Amino acid sequence: MRILGVDIGGTGMKSGVVDTEKGALDGKRIRVDTPRPATPERVAETLRALIDAQRWEGPVGVGFPAAIHHGVVRTAANVDASFAGLSIADYFSERTGHAVSVLNDADAAGLAEVRFGAARDVRGVVLVATIGTGIGTALFTDGRLLPNTELGHILLDNGVEAERYASEAARVRNKLGWAAWGKRFDRYLKAMEKLFWPDLIVLGGGVSRRHEKFAPFLTTSARVVPARYFNRAGIIGAGIHAEDRGLRTEDRALATLAS
Ligand code: BGC
Repeated sequence: MRILGVDIGGTGMKSGVVDTEKGALDGKRIRVDTPRPATPERVAETLRALIDAQRWEGPVGVGFPAAIHHGVVRTAANVDASFAGLSIADYFSERTGHAVSVLNDADAAGLAEVRFGAARDVRGVVLVATIGTGIGTALFTDGRLLPNTELGHILLDNGVEAERYASEAARVRNKLGWAAWGKRFDRYLKAMEKLFWPDLIVLGGGVSRRHEKFAPFLTTSARVVPARYFNRAGIIGAGIHAEDRGLRTEDRALATLAS
């Protein structure tokens, strides 16, 4: 099946048509800047423009940088605060005229890596961390997701919020070299290890392409690998999630017909 996936980040909005059987993009990836301020109106407008730019008709899966609890946005660290409390899938569906499903962006990236990527067929506990404007996390056990873990917001032992200290934005903002940033990120992963004891850690986001630059500074006992899909994982996972939801809806419809 083909579904348009869109990964909404604090800095950029990336889209691509996802082949959900292959777990791959089918066609070109189109990126635009996230509007500033990232209000619901402006983000929905940009989403609509992206859908049009992809000449897409049909359902759309979106990864969004916030906790999405039963369809409602609960946090807004890197988007406008007015998103909080919004029934986001309904809102985007109304504004774009497409059936839109929404999940947390890191959960989306994690889904892609667990289904098709670096964590495929891995048993035990897998932590996927996406490094960008913020730090996003997705936690799996035997392939099943515990949704909406917001583990980029924990306070480190220096009292600083992890994503303010060790995100890609922090690396750029503080002009850190790979060693300095790698040590910061290691501090974060060690904190995660102490709390969750993952068997595997998968790193996504643009910086995961530069894995060899900072890998020498990582000292966790868990294996740490770059995402297979780098920063395309969020797009692919958003497409997979939209298909999963569609299938579930179809299942429900069939169950109703059968009863
Ligand atoms: C948000 C998360 C998101 C992460 C990565 C954090 O600031 O709270 O929901 O997954 O950034 O975008």
